[in-house]
Amino acid sequence: MPSSHADFSYVDDPAPGHGSTAPRSAFRSDAPALSLGGSWRFLLSPAVDAAPDGIERDDFDDGGWTDIPVPGHWQLHGHGSPAYTNVRYPFPVNPPQVPSDNPTGDHRLLFDLPDDWPDEPAVLRFDGIDSCGRIWLNGVELGVTKGSRLPAEFDVGPLLRPRGNLLAVRVHQWSAGSYLEDQDMWWLSGIFRDVTLLARPAGGVRDFTVDADYDHLTARGTLRLDADSGVRITVPELGITDLPAGRSAEIADVAPWSAEEPRLYEGEVHTDTERVPVRVGFRTVTVEDGQLKVNGRRIVFRGVNRHEFHPDSGRVVPREFAVADIELMKRHNVNAVRTSHYPPDSAFLDLCDTYGLWVIDESDVETHGFSELDWRGNPSDDPRWADAYLDRMRRMVERDKNHPSIVMWSLGNEAGTGRNLAAAAEWTHRRDPTRPLHYEGDTDCSYTDVHSRMYAGHDEVDRIGQGVEGHPRLRELPFILCEFGHAMGNGPGGLVEYRDLFERHPRCQGGFVWEWIDHGITRRDTRGGAHFAYGGDFGEPLHDGNFVIDGLVHPDRTPSPALAEFSKVFEPVRITAADGALRVTNHYDVLSTAHLRFHWVLEEEGTEVAHGVVTVPTVEAGDSTDVPLPELPPTGAESWLTVRAALAADTAWAPAGHVVSWGQTPVTRAAPVPPAAGATLDTTGTALRLGPGVFDPLTGRLTALGGLPVEGPRLDLWRAPTDNDRGSGDPEETRWRAAGLHRSQHQLLGTERLGDTLVVRTRVAPPGLGFGMRADYHWSGDAHRLRLRLEVEPDGTWPCTLPRLGLRMALPGGLGTAEWFGRGPGEAYADSRQAARIGRFTRTVDALQTPYVRPQENGNRVDLRWLRLTSADGAGLRVDGEPAFAFTARRWTSEHLDAATHTTGLAPGDTVVLNLDLAQNGLGSASCGPGVLPPYRLHPARASLTLTFTPTGSTDAQETPAR
Ligand code: GAL
Repeated sequence: MPSSHADFSYVDDPAPGHGSTAPRSAFRSDAPALSLGGSWRFLLSPAVDAAPDGIERDDFDDGGWTDIPVPGHWQLHGHGSPAYTNVRYPFPVNPPQVPSDNPTGDHRLLFDLPDDWPDEPAVLRFDGIDSCGRIWLNGVELGVTKGSRLPAEFDVGPLLRPRGNLLAVRVHQWSAGSYLEDQDMWWLSGIFRDVTLLARPAGGVRDFTVDADYDHLTARGTLRLDADSGVRITVPELGITDLPAGRSAEIADVAPWSAEEPRLYEGEVHTDTERVPVRVGFRTVTVEDGQLKVNGRRIVFRGVNRHEFHPDSGRVVPREFAVADIELMKRHNVNAVRTSHYPPDSAFLDLCDTYGLWVIDESDVETHGFSELDWRGNPSDDPRWADAYLDRMRRMVERDKNHPSIVMWSLGNEAGTGRNLAAAAEWTHRRDPTRPLHYEGDTDCSYTDVHSRMYAGHDEVDRIGQGVEGHPRLRELPFILCEFGHAMGNGPGGLVEYRDLFERHPRCQGGFVWEWIDHGITRRDTRGGAHFAYGGDFGEPLHDGNFVIDGLVHPDRTPSPALAEFSKVFEPVRITAADGALRVTNHYDVLSTAHLRFHWVLEEEGTEVAHGVVTVPTVEAGDSTDVPLPELPPTGAESWLTVRAALAADTAWAPAGHVVSWGQTPVTRAAPVPPAAGATLDTTGTALRLGPGVFDPLTGRLTALGGLPVEGPRLDLWRAPTDNDRGSGDPEETRWRAAGLHRSQHQLLGTERLGDTLVVRTRVAPPGLGFGMRADYHWSGDAHRLRLRLEVEPDGTWPCTLPRLGLRMALPGGLGTAEWFGRGPGEAYADSRQAARIGRFTRTVDALQTPYVRPQENGNRVDLRWLRLTSADGAGLRVDGEPAFAFTARRWTSEHLDAATHTTGLAPGDTVVLNLDLAQNGLGSASCGPGVLPPYRLHPARASLTLTFTPTGSTDAQETPAR
């Protein structure tokens, strides 16, 4: 369709693109294909009409242009900058118009056909162009595509030349389509998915739909192929040969597909001229009795929301990273993915079929920015956009329909409601009656099949589960949390309480944690350092800061502590001890425990003393069994029995021996710490001396311990606020700062001698305010140890919870290694501690830190019986708790953590700052969702913490373990 360059009306046109062929299933056949990815010529112009004329012509000179990789985003290759907004559009909302300052990237590629390229029809396929592309081949305009995360194909056969084909693509950063693409993510433009030339043999397979139903009552599968006449399917393993389109075959005793047992049958859809390899998974998805069922069984989504992201290449996600995502998910007991908030690269869906994940595939539609205008002018209800909504849904459904992993379609995210969504729903129900339809914004489910909410608190989920909440229609539908457990920074807390609700209420069928990955963009500095950037770091005038850093894995895909927590909370087998027996409960949707082997290990003070195999009869999904506890040898010190369920054989995603679930039970309780008493308080010199301790008489502070210079323990109430502390609504952080907790002052009220106990009385309080905390330190000791009993008592009326309650001290920086007996190995907080088991662990101080992209409180270890901090020569300090304490150790203070905005802002100091805590406030999920649940709130109250400090040395005979 020839058109003048000056006609840019398509950019602001709410209609979908034009010129492309009918959408069809994504497949790769035996017909020739030529990948056009690689280095292209590129020019970025600041506005549509600043872009040069004639880029499609052979004689156009692109000598002054630069090279750019395709697929790629130009902002990540030195042209323009990424920009991050969550809800707000980064341009004036004047639909369907977008700014005239519309960065426009012109791309050109010269390519030859392989010598054996057939002389037959061909299509040029673009898997993703953000946000609008106008395309020419050999001087002829093919059309325009919008719908960034959707494919478009153009017939090009007659235009091809054996040599010197010129492909020109003009990409606009903004288009009317941008109004439908307001997802919470970076604005990144360009040809960011593959470009491929595909030969289309005459009489080949244009498109096909494979329906493979499973009847769980009879174990029969029904296979049906829909395609043009002449197309056939062959599945040798099922004895199906040449089943023609339009006919179905019944297969007895077929093995169904599920996320847990992703059984695929390999076959071929074919004509005389083309063969398409296919993989058939038999499964039937229904909504029955108010529950979502697959193959007749209720399933529970232990899911994550996954954006396509890579810290260097943005939404260009090379296959190995998609594989890495899936393997990490499977190893951490994730069983489902919502493709927030657009269809992913189709390679990802192939992997979901292979590895086994339940998928909700979501259309590329979000108009969240209209919420800022009370949804006035929302495209979802404006007839001018009707075709665009339908087009996007249709292109997704047609592309992805043959994936057994997809169990639901989603109309989009946060697009309000309106007739265009309803029409897209109606089309989808008609086109694919085999899958229920999801859309959270359809709050009364008038056109969708599943009740869905985001960030509902535990109480509300409980009421929904009881059927006492919401519109009557909703009460008959399955309920899912399409988003929950906002994993921003340190957190979320409260996951295990959600799990309990999913187990209590049959209609509460799980959910999808927000979200899988932190979208931090790698930034290198001139000194070779690197950090991850977030909103505002590229000078965006409008941005939402680090709200884009809210994943279970860091940008480089290192698992965060929250992923470990997720894995433990949602483990498919639960191992508990009850009445002298081990109880094994199977929470899989489908699998029995036959693929697992159970082992036990007995540890005395964290050191293995015995181990063995537990014989567990096969437990079917949903059942549980009790087996006797193993015979254990006697132990003296505190001992725990740990039972692990591990894979018996290698799987696609983890080797044999990978631990899927574990449980622990105490066997021998701890003996009390022998009292440290008998040392005499020596007040004769300039310092106070007690056992191995030296105190400053003016402040009452410990200054040395057995030759180790220390800044002695003082009450500490502050932590560097987490993103959840900074949360939305009524943040804890605001209250804590208003209460001055970040600048408490320590007042010495007096020191006193009570027998051989040194009592240091203090009051810790914020400036300008009347309340405070009395803190009395009771020091006693023997020749080798010091014992501290800290007594605290609120003074006056406190307006808020406490971030933490404990002691802070500073030690020489050489004490760089921590060993402890308590919970570990990872960090844990009051409401996020399921993953931490009792054991003995060693970490360097540096490795104790969790490098949250925006620095904040991290690295806390809980339930310590003892802690040893040592230097390379073995000298150091041991702390024993009565009975237990929590600790953090770092090379900077909470104030430094609080002040830093990026990891590179944290410079190690000369000391190790050690916090020894009675408690911290929980984490909650208030960055988006409910705050800290009541049992995990730390209210100011009378409390006491008792610790024994023992200086230790490499050859030090003083080092008598306390118990
Ligand atoms: C939801 C939204 C997500 C993300 C999340 C907060 O409202 O659907 O895209 O913005 O909140 O991180």
